[in-house]
Amino acid sequence: MPILQVENLRTHYFTDEGPVKAADGVSFTLEKGESIGIAGESGCGKTTVAMSLMRLIEGGAVVGGKVILEGLSLLDMPMKQFRKITWDKISLVSQAAMGALNPVKTVGSQIVEAIRLHMDLSKSDAWERTRFLLSQVKVDPLRAKSYPHELSGGMKQRVMIAMALACNPQVVIADEMTTALDVVTQAQVLQLLIGLQKELDLSLIYISHELSILGQACDRMIIMYAGKIVEMGPTETVFSEPGHPYTQKLLSSNMDVHSDCAIPESIPGKPPDLLNPQSRRRQVKDLLRKDAYDPHFLHRALGGALIIQATMQRDRHHA
Ligand SMILES: Nc1ncnc2c1ncn2[C@@H]1O[C@H](COP(=O)(O)OP(=O)(O)OP(=O)(O)O)[C@@H](O)[C@H]1O
Ligand SMILES: [Mg+2]
Repeated sequence: MPILQVENLRTHYFTDEGPVKAADGVSFTLEKGESIGIAGESGCGKTTVAMSLMRLIEGGAVVGGKVILEGLSLLDMPMKQFRKITWDKISLVSQAAMGALNPVKTVGSQIVEAIRLHMDLSKSDAWERTRFLLSQVKVDPLRAKSYPHELSGGMKQRVMIAMALACNPQVVIADEMTTALDVVTQAQVLQLLIGLQKELDLSLIYISHELSILGQACDRMIIMYAGKIVEMGPTETVFSEPGHPYTQKLLSSNMDVHSDCAIPESIPGKPPDLLNPQSRRRQVKDLLRKDAYDPHFLHRALGGALIIQATMQRDRHHA
């Protein structure tokens, strides 16, 4: 029995030109302890799916479908009841949420506030839990007394993960969590999240336009296009035998560090700008040259597609 079932989710935004069908019949399941990645070009509806699950849609509404979390129908229940289960059962961490940290409060006091809103803990117990959560995300618990501006982007992202884990949720949705971070920090935050997922047996929905990140983090992949799921399957299968032409295009727009080809293939139509390939290609090459980093880890962290392509290149070379 899956922990989460999304059935025929339909979410529209209401505009002067008519409804924008941002999620148009999206169905998938998530098993306990499983991680599922959602990919697709900008504007295809990934965040809309996440926000629909969290009942955070603004300027539109969920107009159809069901979301069942451990037998509870999330979209029908009164908002008051739903607020209780968010944090407790399902939580969201997103790049945008980083800006949601209050600049005039210490990060510790913000985590304490979140804990005390949702858990019946005394102030001192909530502080103890905050320090524990910070150490869990590899941030020195002394940093609880720091203000957000005193932390680096990677640290802030870790604080956001600590906050998302504050009330022991079973399902965590990560939406473009690492996009604005440099590649090394992205790799570290991703490695941290994968470790926590295993340690805490979390079920994870990982949204990113970076297929390489998803390749490392996810058991299964969902590819979206124009509000619909166009492909879904085990990550290895989707990467090695993409069935849908759009997935094939998406994968072929990934870059290959060992190739002489300077410009990867792009998807015609709207510019996908999926990986900012040119600068990324250079970045990866630079990183792999530096002895200070473990190239094997970077390679793993930087890319599923990258690994597949690089391995194929190497095998061809040695054949
Ligand atoms: N409040 C809104 N009002 C009107 N249209 C919206 C609103 N929010 C999103 N949309 C539209 O809905 C579609 C899906 O947007 P969404 O943010 O879910 O895409 P996304 O896949 O997360 O994109 P990205 O990769 O850029 O984050 C887009 O066409 C977007 O312009
Ligand atoms: Mg988005």
